[in-house]
Amino acid sequence: MTPPVLEVQDLSISFGGLKAVAGFGLTLRPGALEGLIGPNGAGKTTVFNLLSGVYTADSGRFVLDGADLRGFSAYRISHAGIARTFQNIRVFSHLTVLENVLVGFHQSIRYGYWDAFLLTGRFRNDEAAMEQQALALLERVGLASRAGDNARDLPYGDQRRLEIARALATHPKVLLLDEPAAGLNTVEKEQLMGLIAKIRDEFKVAILVIEHDMKLVMGICERITVLDHGEVIATGTPKEIQSNPKVIEAYLGVS
Ligand SMILES: Nc1ncnc2c1ncn2[C@@H]1O[C@H](COP(=O)(O)OP(=O)(O)OP(=O)(O)O)[C@@H](O)[C@H]1O
Ligand SMILES: [Mg+2]
Repeated sequence: MTPPVLEVQDLSISFGGLKAVAGFGLTLRPGALEGLIGPNGAGKTTVFNLLSGVYTADSGRFVLDGADLRGFSAYRISHAGIARTFQNIRVFSHLTVLENVLVGFHQSIRYGYWDAFLLTGRFRNDEAAMEQQALALLERVGLASRAGDNARDLPYGDQRRLEIARALATHPKVLLLDEPAAGLNTVEKEQLMGLIAKIRDEFKVAILVIEHDMKLVMGICERITVLDHGEVIATGTPKEIQSNPKVIEAYLGVS
């Protein structure tokens, strides 16, 4: 069996007296497509905040390709290969669509400050190469024709896809998508889920997706982890999750 790309063990964080995430564990194989679900306030986004360095866990560890990243800054985690999108869209609204993706590439730049300052050949070549790659990514998510537009002028669904393109630009091994389909209509949701599945295949990236729509998440994910009150109450295939009494009580029962 291939070794996991991401191994999370016993990750916990409290805010004041509240245990937002307690003893969280997960194993992602390279190229896996898995779901993270649970009722509102269960701790899903907090897990992503821990895995992307927004917060540092009180205890536990998460290991990406053999390197324990707990305590690393968000920048270093992104550089190491974990990218994420946000529940509340975060595009740079004053930048163009293309520039938004270039921001992602700049997180993996190889040239130094002086290269950029002196506009050396290496800088110019890298810039041109990055622009081409950024355009290819936009093409992939169906936004190439909007490359020169301001990000703020894109419809909501397009901004969500732009965020995914920007995350992919960092060359992630693991991509964390926090409710990428939120706010979309049924048809857009299904299209987006189809796109996510294709991205996993084409980019060979492991994806963990938070999504409230059971039908959607069960339709594309191989395995699902269920959180309730900060704790994992079940992990399994969609079929196993669907018939798990704890899940039905905590989640399906209230939805
Ligand atoms: N920075 C913080 N300070 C204090 N409490 C926080 C902080 N971040 C999260 N929490 C709390 O941790 C718990 C889990 O929140 P989280 O946003 O992770 O839930 P979620 O599962 O993503 O919910 P939703 O489905 O509504 O997005 C909530 O009770 C929340 O209020
Ligand atoms: Mg959330």
